[in-house]
Amino acid sequence: MTDERKKFYITTPIYYVNDKPHIGSAYPTIAADVMARLHRIVGEDVLFLTGTAEHGSKIAESAEKSGIDIKKFVDENSAKFSLAWDILGIAPDDFIRTTEERHIKAVNLFFTKLKESGKLYEGEYEGWYCIGCESYKKELELVNGLCPLHNRKPEWLKEKNWFFKLSEYGPKLLSAIENDEFRILPASRKNEITSFIKLGLEDIAVSRRTAKFALALPWDPSQTIYVWLDELFNYCSAIGYADDREKYNHYWPANFHVVGKDIIKFHCVIWPALLLAIGEKLPEAVFAHGFFTFGGQKMSKTLGNVIDPVEMADKYTADALRYFLLREVPFGQDGDVSEEKLKARYNADLADGLGNLFSRVTNMIEKYMDGQIEEFVDSPKDLGSAWESFYNFDFAQGLTDIWKEIAWANQLIDKTKPWELVESEPEKVKALLLNLAALLLDIALKLSPVMPDTSQKIKSILESGDIKKPEPLFKKVE
Ligand code: MSP
Repeated sequence: MTDERKKFYITTPIYYVNDKPHIGSAYPTIAADVMARLHRIVGEDVLFLTGTAEHGSKIAESAEKSGIDIKKFVDENSAKFSLAWDILGIAPDDFIRTTEERHIKAVNLFFTKLKESGKLYEGEYEGWYCIGCESYKKELELVNGLCPLHNRKPEWLKEKNWFFKLSEYGPKLLSAIENDEFRILPASRKNEITSFIKLGLEDIAVSRRTAKFALALPWDPSQTIYVWLDELFNYCSAIGYADDREKYNHYWPANFHVVGKDIIKFHCVIWPALLLAIGEKLPEAVFAHGFFTFGGQKMSKTLGNVIDPVEMADKYTADALRYFLLREVPFGQDGDVSEEKLKARYNADLADGLGNLFSRVTNMIEKYMDGQIEEFVDSPKDLGSAWESFYNFDFAQGLTDIWKEIAWANQLIDKTKPWELVESEPEKVKALLLNLAALLLDIALKLSPVMPDTSQKIKSILESGDIKKPEPLFKKVE
C-alpha cells in the first residue's frame, strides 16, 4: 500500500553525550517537535528524528574522567536525553545513536562511496585541534592561544589524513543556495554562508590518525573517521540508507534540518558538498536558531549558570517551559533567558492569562448553566494566522497572536459582567458563555503543537459537556 500523504522529514542536531541535556539542547528539539506536531495535525506523513552523538575524543575523555566503562557511559547518557525529551513532551518518531549498528553500517557505505567518487586524497595536516569543538581551528580564531568557545588550549596535531576536495564545490553550492534549491534560513544566515563560500573553500580532513573511540576508515584502518562526518550522516542512516532503500527514498531529502547557528558551516557547506560527492539530493532547508545567554553571560558549566530544562519542567510544567522558550526569543535570534523571566511569563501569561480565562468560563458555566454544555456554537475556526507563523518557525509571533485573543476574551468578560446580567438576561449570558467555550476550544487547538498537555486538558473538560470544578490550569508561583 502506498502512502499518498505528503511527507515531512525534520531533524535536530544529535547531541554529544558527554553532558546531560540542557536548555540549549532542549531548544531545537522543542522547536522541531512543534513543527512535527503541526504537520501531523494537518495529516502529513511526518518523520521527526533526534538522537545522540557518541563517538570521538570528547566523549572518550569524559568517560575516562567519570571512571565508567565507555559503552556503559554512552548508554546511560543517551538514555538521559530520551528521558528528558519524554518529560518535556517531545515525541520523536525515531531516535538515532551513532553507536548503533544501522548507523555504523551506513557510515561505512557512505565512506566507500566517497572514496569511489575520487574526491578523497591523502595528505599531511598540521594545525590546532580543539577537542571541545571536535574541529581544527585557524590561528586567528584563537584568543590568547585558547579556543574562545571552550576556554581550552587546542592540541597541535601533525598527521597524515585523508582529505576531501571541498574546494571544488564552491560554485555548485553557491548556485544551489542562491536560487533556493537549498534554502538557508533566516536570511542573515544565508548571507553569512554565501559570503563565506565566496572567500574560497579549503579542502578538509575527513579522517584522523589518533582519535579515540571513533570508527575506522573502511579501506585504511590506521585512520579513524572524523566524528563530524560520522555525525552528519545520521540524517541518512536513520532512514535506512544502508538497509531500507524504499524508506530512504521516501523520506530523503530532509525537509528541514533544525540546527544552532554555531554549526551552520557543517550543515550548510560541508554536508551538502558531501552529498553532492556521493550523488545524493541536497536537503531542502536548514533553519538556524540563535543562542541563549543567561543574565547576558554565555551559559556554561564552569560558570554554573546552566538552566536544567527537566528541573524547570518539574517546577513550572513542560508546557510552560515550551511556551516560554518559544515566546521569549524569536526563533533565529539570540536572546537572554533566566528562571526569573520564566516565572514572570508563567504568572502573567499562563496563570493570569489563559488559566484565568479558562477558570472564569468554566466556573460560570458551572454556576449559571449547571455545568451543562449541550451543544457548542460554531467556533470561528480561524487557525490561519497563528499556524501560518508557526509554519515559518515564527513561534513568538504565532503565540503573541493567540494571546491577543485571550486578552480580548478576558476583557469581554470584564466589560459584560455576566454576574450582574444573569438575573435579568440569562439567555444572553448563556450565549456569551457558549461563545467563550467555543473560543477556548479554538485556542486549545491552535496551541496544541506548542502546549499539547494544556490543550488536551482544555479540550477534554469542555467536551465532556458536564463541567464540575476543574483544577486551575496553572497555579500561580510566588
Ligand atoms: N554533535 C554536534 C551536532 C551534530 S549534528 C549532525 C553538536 N552537539 S552539541 O551537543 O554540542 O550541541 C548541539 C546543539 O545544541 C547546538 O547546535 C545548538 O543547537 C544547541 N545549543 C547548545 N548550547 C546552546 C545555547 N546556549 N543556546 C541555544 N542553543 C544551544 O554540536
